[in-house]
Amino acid sequence: MNPIPYGKQWICEDDVECVKETLLSELITTGPKAREFEEAVAAYCGAKYAVAVSNGTAALHLASLGLLKEGDRVLTTPNSFLATSNALLYAKASPIFVDIRENGNIDLDLCEKELEKDPSIKAIYAVHFSGNPVEQEKLARLKERFGITILEDCAHSIGAQYKEIKAGSCTHSDASIFSFHPVKHMTTGEGGMVTTNDKELYEKVLLLRNHGMTKTDLTDTSMAYDSKGNKNPWYYEMHELGYNYRITDIQCALGLSQLKKLDRFIERRRELAKRYDEAFENHSLVRPLYRYDGRSSYHLYVVLVDFDRLSITKAELFDKMVQKKIGLQLHYIPINKQPYYRKLGYGNENLPQMDNYYKKALSLPLYPKMSDEEHRYVIENFLEILSKG
Ligand SMILES: Cc1ncc(COP(=O)(O)O)c(C=O)c1O
Repeated sequence: MNPIPYGKQWICEDDVECVKETLLSELITTGPKAREFEEAVAAYCGAKYAVAVSNGTAALHLASLGLLKEGDRVLTTPNSFLATSNALLYAKASPIFVDIRENGNIDLDLCEKELEKDPSIKAIYAVHFSGNPVEQEKLARLKERFGITILEDCAHSIGAQYKEIKAGSCTHSDASIFSFHPVKHMTTGEGGMVTTNDKELYEKVLLLRNHGMTKTDLTDTSMAYDSKGNKNPWYYEMHELGYNYRITDIQCALGLSQLKKLDRFIERRRELAKRYDEAFENHSLVRPLYRYDGRSSYHLYVVLVDFDRLSITKAELFDKMVQKKIGLQLHYIPINKQPYYRKLGYGNENLPQMDNYYKKALSLPLYPKMSDEEHRYVIENFLEILSKG
């Protein structure tokens, strides 16, 4: 048996062919393939606009610069990858960590209480953890009641649905972001996307992706035109302090090819998640983070293990699985407890659900290329180690 990681990409010959074609074309950095990829992802999610960028973190950064002002305070989850709240710090905003629900998502009822106490809070950054979207009616209510800005971090949830609402459609939010890192549902190697229905935000993110530079909407006419009124063909202006967060057409060609297979990839993830659920049904020490839900796009399959009733620790379990060549992972260490965040004064919040989750949670391998045999092997070894533990 080859080593089984917790997640990995699935690249086939058809992907290679698409990339090769672009690689041999005239334009290889952000060009027609990027535009096509943006349009395809926007259409897939049902959002009006999309901007492809170099990674999900860049997407969060640029969306935050468009949505927030220095000093804004923002409710967010401790149960995410560092990038979600780091983006708030990049924008000189302040995260406020709110406890999670039993399904790993930010608790929007607690958000409502925070907003009642302090209506000056500007925004909510919600992550659809593991691929399971947060309650959209609640987002809609909070937006309506408090006029807040909402960003949906959809890095785990492309293809997921909440009732009829597709992740990334921004139906009740101002912006969504995606990541196309290889462990995600589809990959561009590294890559990310912002989706929005707000034209102004879209234009700002586009500008910031490329140094804040523009060749249209020129303001300095004396520089832009010659004495005969001809536009200087070399001329550009910088209107914002932007970045180089461009994605290449090579990556977007891969993204377009992967997008065609995305629904199949997600179906396979769901199939495997369902079988995991069945394997752990009525187990006294293991339970899935949430019961099988066909609308989750299952970036992760998280189980909660009752280590208080076992003699092995979580670290020992990880180690025993590695000996069987099976990679586990933990999503996530509470962000507020990171040394950097502690230096900023975080870390002593009262987040009992998150603390309890952190003690018990781990992610089992899940990726579409995983064979039935590999999946059975993971289950058998996992249950066997627990039975001896
Ligand atoms: C929830 C979440 N948000 C943002 C990111 C950042 O994405 P990227 O790695 O593409 O920068 C990740 C990446 O793992 C993530 O899991």
